[in-house]
Amino acid sequence: MNGARFDGGAAANGLGARLGRLLRIGLVRYALALAGFCLVLVLALAPLASVLVEGWARQDVDLRSRLVHRSVRERVASLEVGGDADLTPFFEHLAADERLLALGYCADEKTLRFATRLMPPALDCAGLPLRRTDATAVRRYAGVHVHVGVYPMRLGPVDGHLLVLHDLAYVDERAATARIYTILALASAVVGLGLAAAGVVFVVVRRWTRLLMVTATRVDLAAPPVAGGRPVSPFSREFRALVRELRTEKKAADGIHVDWSPDTLRRLLTEELPGVEVLVVSNREPYIHDRTEAGEIELKLPASGLVAALEPVMRTCGGTWIAHGSGSADRETVDETDRLRVPPAAPDYTLRRVWLDDDEVEGYYYGFANEGLWPLCHIAFVRPAFRARDFERYRAVNERFAEMVVAEAGRDDPIVLVQDYHFALLPRMIRRRLPKATIVTFWHIPWPNAETFGICPWREEIIDGLLGSSILGFHTRQHCNNFIEATDRFIESRIDREHDSVTLAGHDTLIRPYPISIEWPPAALAAQRSIAECREAVRARLGLPQRIRLAVGIERFDYTKGILDRMAAVDELLVRHPDWREKVVFVQAAAPSRSTLEAYRSLQAEAIRLAAEINARHGTGTWQPIRLVIRHHDQSEVYELFRAADVCVVSSLHDGMNLVAKEFVAARDDERGVLVLSSFAGASRELSEALIVNPYDTCAMAAALAAALTMPEDEQRDRLVLMREVVRQRNVHRWAAQMLLDVARIRKRERIHGRGAA
Ligand code: F6P
Repeated sequence: MNGARFDGGAAANGLGARLGRLLRIGLVRYALALAGFCLVLVLALAPLASVLVEGWARQDVDLRSRLVHRSVRERVASLEVGGDADLTPFFEHLAADERLLALGYCADEKTLRFATRLMPPALDCAGLPLRRTDATAVRRYAGVHVHVGVYPMRLGPVDGHLLVLHDLAYVDERAATARIYTILALASAVVGLGLAAAGVVFVVVRRWTRLLMVTATRVDLAAPPVAGGRPVSPFSREFRALVRELRTEKKAADGIHVDWSPDTLRRLLTEELPGVEVLVVSNREPYIHDRTEAGEIELKLPASGLVAALEPVMRTCGGTWIAHGSGSADRETVDETDRLRVPPAAPDYTLRRVWLDDDEVEGYYYGFANEGLWPLCHIAFVRPAFRARDFERYRAVNERFAEMVVAEAGRDDPIVLVQDYHFALLPRMIRRRLPKATIVTFWHIPWPNAETFGICPWREEIIDGLLGSSILGFHTRQHCNNFIEATDRFIESRIDREHDSVTLAGHDTLIRPYPISIEWPPAALAAQRSIAECREAVRARLGLPQRIRLAVGIERFDYTKGILDRMAAVDELLVRHPDWREKVVFVQAAAPSRSTLEAYRSLQAEAIRLAAEINARHGTGTWQPIRLVIRHHDQSEVYELFRAADVCVVSSLHDGMNLVAKEFVAARDDERGVLVLSSFAGASRELSEALIVNPYDTCAMAAALAAALTMPEDEQRDRLVLMREVVRQRNVHRWAAQMLLDVARIRKRERIHGRGAA
């Protein structure tokens, strides 16, 4: 029986091998023909794609170059710069833009008067088109392709030319990428079709072969699959697959080529982190139930950047959000386990409310978080108050939330997203209780330099607490660097500056910048009326004639937002340009916030006083330049106001990111309106086409307001188009995706190390 089986198997195997060989030869020929066809097609079409992309990219650079020229010209004009002025520092500041290579000024054909650090040494004014009109040229310096914008610009008595240099390496890269993608797309289309046809042939021949083999003998199908004579262990196959994934995932890691949306984020979760449990912890809850004076229960979405960013992510990812239940009707709206499903109208995730007593709120929230850490991190010249009793409460509340995370976790390795400065000690507390958890902490406010942070009496404990995280995120690279410097100065740890990680007691924490954003398109925009209707409705509500130009500011009433400074700028504008009287109104919508704290109460009182003073100085019987509206505005009102405005002013004295700026940009689907943005808000790093101002400089702010109110519509559009593209691409789903991709990488690495050791 054994012998017959062996012989039969051999015969069948021989036949199968011959058929297989035939099949392989046929397939190879087919593949060669297909490859030839692909090659011809690709060679014909790929250059076309790169020519198109190069053309678009060059237009983009031309536009950017003109914008830079315009802002230099305005600045030079507004400052009335003389012939002997040194513009190098101002040029260096502008040249910080990531694609701007250098700025310079040719006084004549022989004299390059100013040049920023990266100006190619080989550049020669004589070799450039120094004409009476704007000109551009493309030159190659030291092997690098450079776009040179040459603009006539008078400086005092000197009739010279401004040089704006852009590195075109990225254009070449884009063209190369377009070529590759075209090649890939065409090749995959043709190969896909070819493979489908080959697959059909393959399957038919295989079936035929099998049939012959089965007829010849009975094969033991229970035997394990064999590769190269050795049994393949499922474990090692999976192991190798993981290693392969880790090698290739770098490409996808920052999601550069992905349009992030709820769908792509959901796919990321299912593909990269299947079956994970996501828990969010924040102080502020996304949905607040308040009892109104009329005795009704009202649902409110708080004025909070954190909530605005995280809520759409939770709607996509699901999971549980643990937060302080601060609404007066919150207890009446949860189930017996203190949970409720939200959003109430169409639930996607669970909100778990935590109850804090007055003493806890006083010490943890108002005391240490908002009178200590908030002014410490914002450096807005309000002295931080550090009270030991507050810090005890803060520590105790962090412990309570750590217990809550353990209670809510359905497994021992959840992903816990800890939010903000209310929970600096929480990551370490969770790590002790759930060592396998992946903890991502995001610090929504700035992190000051080490010297400033050093005044906090509990600086070591706070840094140690945060280093319980697997990943610690900030809005900007600068804040990451500040944190690493503080760690270096105050904690005994190992810092790896190449990978931006800190190792403390054998545990690694990655320190990463993740610039937060808003959802795109924002949900609140869907229900908005047309721009014309919004303009009309807002002006009617405020009792303003339709011709009035509207500048708006919308935020929480907070001393970090520079509300007084922008009112002073309106005052200055009306003093300098009295012709704007009765033509412009500045509406400041401010939601009361942390009103039990003295710094906030006095800010509010001062704002009311200042508005009255400015209105008295410039106002008439029928027109007041400043409207201060102190109340909570829901998202639809906020978006309506943005759409009705001509100018939006964000003048934060210091801000981690500032989502109001991004919301304004997103609200303006008509590509009109001007954003005046503080250089001290993280958003200014991304929205560089806004009018960037120093809010401490009242005259510069007034000049920016004047420029905004007189900006031609085509320039408004040019600027908004670029900013809208940034906000569209770098939306909040990308923010979450970047963190989750890092989480996935950490978890895979941990699995590999665990199994590798075994
Ligand atoms: O900016 C930090 C932050 O937590 C934001 O995320 C949010 O907009 C704001 O503070 C909310 O403050 P509060 O929750 O104290 O009202």
